[in-house]
Amino acid sequence: MDVMHVVGNRPQFIKLSPVSRELRKRGIQEVIIHTGQHYDANLSEIFFEELDIPEPARNLDVGSGSHAQVTGAAMIRIEKVIEEFTPKCVVVYGDTNSTLAAALAAAKLCIPLIHVEAGPRTYNKTNPEECNRVVVDHISDYLCAPDRISFENLIKEGIAKDKIFFTGDVMYDEFLYCLLQGQDNISLCPDGYILMTWHRQENTCNRERMEKIICFIEKISYDIILPLHPRTKKFLEVYGLEERINKIPYLKIIEPVGYKEMTVLLNNCKLLVSDSGGASKEASFVGKKCIYMLDLNIWPELVENGYIQLMDIDNNEMVERSLYEIKNILAGRKWLCRPEFFGNGNAAVKIVDVIEKIV
Ligand code: UD1
Ligand code: UDP
Repeated sequence: MDVMHVVGNRPQFIKLSPVSRELRKRGIQEVIIHTGQHYDANLSEIFFEELDIPEPARNLDVGSGSHAQVTGAAMIRIEKVIEEFTPKCVVVYGDTNSTLAAALAAAKLCIPLIHVEAGPRTYNKTNPEECNRVVVDHISDYLCAPDRISFENLIKEGIAKDKIFFTGDVMYDEFLYCLLQGQDNISLCPDGYILMTWHRQENTCNRERMEKIICFIEKISYDIILPLHPRTKKFLEVYGLEERINKIPYLKIIEPVGYKEMTVLLNNCKLLVSDSGGASKEASFVGKKCIYMLDLNIWPELVENGYIQLMDIDNNEMVERSLYEIKNILAGRKWLCRPEFFGNGNAAVKIVDVIEKIV
């Protein structure tokens, strides 16, 4: 076997798609392993179907649990499939517990490890993904950085320059590929809408923060479409906040959508309110601003150039500034053009160039 991809979460299926397509184009053998960290059809299957990603050879069914439970179970099971398939290299994506588990298993079996989306940093260890990113980058053999700042972060951390490749961002590749194929959902809000996503541990693990986010939504007073992540749905129930959020008249909560629909929702929205690392960046691909609901500067170029405005929901001044910015954008006083920090939409070609030399 030439290449083994290990994926397990929604954003990883999207990142895998253009790399797999390019490998197939070049006739390079691949096998996909799904850890099973995400298992709902609209967080998993939908992406394989609509993006034509080959069926995973194995689903390791790790499911949900604490960080250690998910990472540990995935690592033990991934070790077995690596031994079964003996790939020439393992490719991991992003910064989730599935990424960490696969990277550790591959590195300890001395299989060349490629990290796609290497180098972003928040420099905040309370952010669970930060631990994953740092560890994975430091045990990877080939690091594919999505933007210049990520590339420089890796150099600053002492990683050898010949291991790091500035490939651009595979999400940009896939975004361009999908945008024109999506289903338009604008009929939900004919006069325009704000798109919202909300799922991060920091914003769902305590009732007070969730309540503050609901209060923020109430103050926006404008049509909002919110494809709701199951984690957030669960905690709204656990904290008894469902009734309150369901009463907001202009908030339309929908099921998580597929990627084609998501690209269209982003393209047609007035702005994005989100705590998603991926979506906050994608909004810029169509010149839309993101109010990012965490004080974590993961894409500094986008923050410096006004595409992302950081907002810690516990910081009243940041919340007020965000509400003011939203009013300005809705009044049509802000316009952004597409930035060029994330490559030209050919990141997968560059990544497969790296892989081809190994296999
Ligand atoms: C995970 C990643 C996060 C990434 C996100 C992408 C880690 C540490 N976190 O967060 O970096 O941004 O995926 O969406 O790996 N659940 C379901 N159905 C599912 C999956 C999850 O109902 O198919 C619910 C479960 O109640 C579960 C909770 O969501 O306990 C959290 O799932 P988990 O995979 O632990 O983390 P995410 O929040 O999805
Ligand atoms: N996304 C999607 N459907 C949705 C919500 C998000 O396809 O209903 C996409 C989004 O456009 C981005 C990716 O999922 O490409 C981001 O995943 P998520 O927000 O779950 O994780 P993060 O990027 O924060 O790790």
